[in-house]
Amino acid sequence: MLEDLSMHVLDIAENSVAAGASDVSIEIDEDKEGNRLSMTVEDNGRGMSPEFLSRVTDPFATTRATGKVGMGIPFLKQSAELCGGEFILRSKIGAGTHIEAVFAYDSIDRPPPGDMPATIMALFMGHPEINWKYVHRINGEEFSLSTEELVEVPEDRESLRAAEVGLWIRDHIKKRSRR
Ligand SMILES: Nc1ncnc2c1ncn2[C@@H]1O[C@H](COP(=O)(O)OP(=O)(O)O)[C@@H](O)[C@H]1O
Ligand SMILES: [Mg+2]
Repeated sequence: MLEDLSMHVLDIAENSVAAGASDVSIEIDEDKEGNRLSMTVEDNGRGMSPEFLSRVTDPFATTRATGKVGMGIPFLKQSAELCGGEFILRSKIGAGTHIEAVFAYDSIDRPPPGDMPATIMALFMGHPEINWKYVHRINGEEFSLSTEELVEVPEDRESLRAAEVGLWIRDHIKKRSRR
């Protein structure tokens, strides 16, 4: 599977949306010196039961054979572990979910970054009802953008759907994440 990091983010964050979350935070941490790159998605959605959790990372679990469940989580786990990293999944029914994938920065199999600014734009615009927070750390230097700071009054939320707002978000992230 040749998936880039932004595609994984999109998939995992869409899971949070489907889980009915009102708050979703996405964090990318690039630490070249420490030879580590991580992506974390955290939500306050409905969560998963311990029994479900034990199967959701398994690409061969029986729920998958029925074709009802996709492969977003198993692919991300596999990719992290292939890249000398680790995959952490914590979830609690009624409380939320924390998914973290860590990659060795110098692994030749590490997914390329992909188009993170366009992915964040798509998530913010596609689900303006959600309180999004995006944090990108590059070698200790942090940049963040949240829908809370973009929307002054709650009634303005729908303006997140406007093309010019979306493009501004994308370009803003692009500028700030230039290294
Ligand atoms: N953040 C989450 N909160 C609650 N349930 C989740 C979350 N992420 C995934 N799940 C559950 O795990 C299942 C598998 O997710 P995934 O591997 O991404 O495949 P897909 O999204 O295609 O079903 C989802 O269908 C959902 O039931
Ligand atoms: Mg999914």
